[in-house]
Amino acid sequence: MQDKILEAIKKAIGIEEVHIEAPEIEVYGDYSTNVAMVLAKKEGKNPKEVAKELLQKILSDKDIKILCEKVEIAGPGFINFWLSYEALLGNLKEVNIKGEEYGSSGLGGGKCVVIDYSAPNIAKRFGIGHLRSTVIGQALYNLYKFLGYKVIGDNHIGDWGTQFGTLLYQIDSKGLNPAKLTVDELENLYVEFNSEAQKYEKLWDEARGWFKKLEEKDPKAKEVWKAVLNTSLREFNRIYELLGVKIDYTHGESFYEDKMMEILDELRKKGLVKKSEGAEIIELAGMTPAMLTKSDGTTTYFTRDLATIKFRIGEWNPDIVIYEVGNDQILHFRQVFAATKLINWNNKIHYEHVAHGLIRLPHGKMSTRHGETVKLEDVLNEAIARAKNIIDKSETPLRHGFAGQAGRGLSHSEKDNVAKAVGIGAVKYFDLTHHPATDIIFDWDKIFVLEGNSAPYLQYTYARTQSVLRKTQKLKNSKTPNLKIGNPSTSLRPSALRLRLEEMVSLSNQWKVETNAEEILVLRSLVRFSDVIVSAAKNYSPNLLTNYLFNLAQKYNNFYNLHRILPSEKEIGDWKLEIGNFRLALTRGVGQVLNNGLTILGIETPEKM
Ligand code: ARG
Repeated sequence: MQDKILEAIKKAIGIEEVHIEAPEIEVYGDYSTNVAMVLAKKEGKNPKEVAKELLQKILSDKDIKILCEKVEIAGPGFINFWLSYEALLGNLKEVNIKGEEYGSSGLGGGKCVVIDYSAPNIAKRFGIGHLRSTVIGQALYNLYKFLGYKVIGDNHIGDWGTQFGTLLYQIDSKGLNPAKLTVDELENLYVEFNSEAQKYEKLWDEARGWFKKLEEKDPKAKEVWKAVLNTSLREFNRIYELLGVKIDYTHGESFYEDKMMEILDELRKKGLVKKSEGAEIIELAGMTPAMLTKSDGTTTYFTRDLATIKFRIGEWNPDIVIYEVGNDQILHFRQVFAATKLINWNNKIHYEHVAHGLIRLPHGKMSTRHGETVKLEDVLNEAIARAKNIIDKSETPLRHGFAGQAGRGLSHSEKDNVAKAVGIGAVKYFDLTHHPATDIIFDWDKIFVLEGNSAPYLQYTYARTQSVLRKTQKLKNSKTPNLKIGNPSTSLRPSALRLRLEEMVSLSNQWKVETNAEEILVLRSLVRFSDVIVSAAKNYSPNLLTNYLFNLAQKYNNFYNLHRILPSEKEIGDWKLEIGNFRLALTRGVGQVLNNGLTILGIETPEKM
């Protein structure tokens, strides 16, 4: 809708540079523009006077007359727009015609975005910390794709580096069979090494020695490394399977091993390398220098990230590169971006570190009594068990008529699938409701809050819309009079999905109904979806989308609780078909938008719960 209003304004006032936004507060209308203030500043005029002049032109435009019920000047010279009833109804039609495509656009114009996310470290448990990167990264991936970008997901797993030397040392000195070690055992070897090395600092030399061997392609070192890699990948894949996440590429750090020399040579040639106590560094304005090679000649995480950028440029020629990585690496990425600028491979690329905060237990860090990190797999399995429990009990404490509905009429295997969708969905959604930068306190009660901003609440609401539609189908098949779902004409070809204004209005005229306040609120909320998608992507904030979906679901449930959608058996005789059709279309539209939004967030939407 935003684009339609924007086009109409530009046409009406004959200015190309116009910005509009959807104000958070409803009294400022559905859209608002500051164009009068911008223009007034440029021409040294009074902004209110300019606004008045522009308003005249805007009000006489024929498209604006259709789209808007009211246009007003407010504050220092804002012009605010309220959508007309026709526009709201037309938008609902648009939701139901476009279906899964509603809210998507060609905004990205095929520009390429590379997203670096998940990136767990091998030989360590997939900790709950990497959950954030995986879930937020996947949501950003889906958002950009929905907006017409070409998106590439690249999993930069940590499978190289000095810490790996500690493991090689442990396995060798203990004479262990690497292929038989579980990830838990591998992680314990690290922990043990670290506490030993606190006593005997010399142990670090052993570890460094082993990593050097690995970099020098020592066959024994390579063999152990390969075995550990395979064990870890098996565990990661189990978790990705549980999470329903698929990442396009996995180029671990080791992938860049043979590309290091070339990078170092290039940097040396460009005069960017300095020697410092046997190591090689790159100096960066306004921050600590970054280390390129260590004094023993081995390479660093930093240099591997430079090689990664060069590879990605050659492979995909990206316009934007997003790193979804913890905020303990803020300095690292500032250094990487600064170095990349100095090297000047392609300074048109926009690099963004979407730094996420920690997940903590209510009493501190996410670690067990023994100092081990909490295992994500355990958390996910517990989430599924908790969801199953709720479904089995079938007496959920939900107010809005959900109570007692859960789990009814589901077979055993359906229940298991729903439990998985709800359990995993709840954990993911909880993460996504927070702005990436904030720290999260992990709290089962909040994750499963059935009346609040949680996945189960939205999934219930979606299932409710689908249940209404199924009931309609039943009514239709029985003795009911011609109770047609507002099934909008689908004669438009998919490629012509963008509705023209006149089409929209003529479609909306099919409904001759008086809407109530609750319905209007739902209609207004549906309009905002596409705008929210854009701001969630541009601000790297999937939480904007979760908030929106929660708000929409609340508005729909409010409507649902106050008004009948389908007639009871007795009422069928005097039921007003138009009202029924409109409310069904509204229900279907809400279901569609919840489905589109949750799918983008990577959350499943069971048809029944
Ligand atoms: N494996 C790293 C970690 O767990 C994250 C890697 C992020 N991506 C990158 N290109 N550096 O800390």
